Amino acid sequence: MARVFVTRALPGPGLDRLRAEHETDVWPERLPPPREELVEHTAGAEGLISLLTDVVDADLIAAAPRLRAISNYAVGTDNVDIIAATARGIPVGHTPDVLTDATADLAFALLLAAARRLPVAARAVIAGDWLTWEPARHLGQSVHGATLGIVGLGRIGRAVAARAHGFAMEVLSTPTATTPGLPLAALLERSDFVSLHCPLTPVTRHLINAEALSRMRPTAILINTARGAIVDQAALRTALEQGTIAGAALDVTNPEPITPDDPLLSAPNLLITPHIGSATTAAREQMTELAVENLLAGLAGRPMPHQANAPA
Ligand code: DGY
Repeated sequence: MARVFVTRALPGPGLDRLRAEHETDVWPERLPPPREELVEHTAGAEGLISLLTDVVDADLIAAAPRLRAISNYAVGTDNVDIIAATARGIPVGHTPDVLTDATADLAFALLLAAARRLPVAARAVIAGDWLTWEPARHLGQSVHGATLGIVGLGRIGRAVAARAHGFAMEVLSTPTATTPGLPLAALLERSDFVSLHCPLTPVTRHLINAEALSRMRPTAILINTARGAIVDQAALRTALEQGTIAGAALDVTNPEPITPDDPLLSAPNLLITPHIGSATTAAREQMTELAVENLLAGLAGRPMPHQANAPA
């Protein structure tokens, strides 16, 4: 029986399997463990289930001499220092596939909501500002037949493309290791909607900067359900204020949560949701199952079903 720290209560019955096999310490609060609590609870643990809100860096790993398996409750692993974990021979699990459709649905929901200005129209009704049927009010953009540029044609990017085909959209994408595609600049210039689905890496940090935004059409809408830091938010604010692009719909920001006084929030034509891409009951419960399976495998010395670093 190993000691395991889980940094938050997780939906579904998945954690019961972990409790049945291991001494399981679950952080009970709604907010993530503060750094000192994370360090203290991880210090004696052999297994860790972390969330994207936990910074699992080289210091945390070094302060946990018995740690031998990390399982991240997310497909993205940018919160984990994979190099430090790998150097210690610690497998790092993640949760792809089970959240692909939920996240693609949300990306498309944001695209539709921004294109058809749903937040503005809904607020007008609440404000008592629905006076009559108006021919030239609340006009949005056509989605059917428009061009969608997908940056990062991985699992989620492909699922978004499948949805776009149902709307008769032309789908462009940046190249992957196995599929050809357009250079980013050309994709930005040709797209009515640009949806980001690449992981956050040193290469993709601020990929959408002032120069990239200047290549987009003044009628274009940016959608980000990947990671906030892929977009330079100061540049985005300027682009929205100056009308360089028509709008943005973000499920992710940098930092998260975005603070109420963040200047970005005053930009026009901006819709922000609180990182809910995978937030369906089914997806989150399956993420729990997968995170537990990964951890159980790692603790048993077996390859994890979904391991983000190469097996030792
Ligand atoms: C992930 O899994 O990386 C999402 O951002 C949250 O589900």
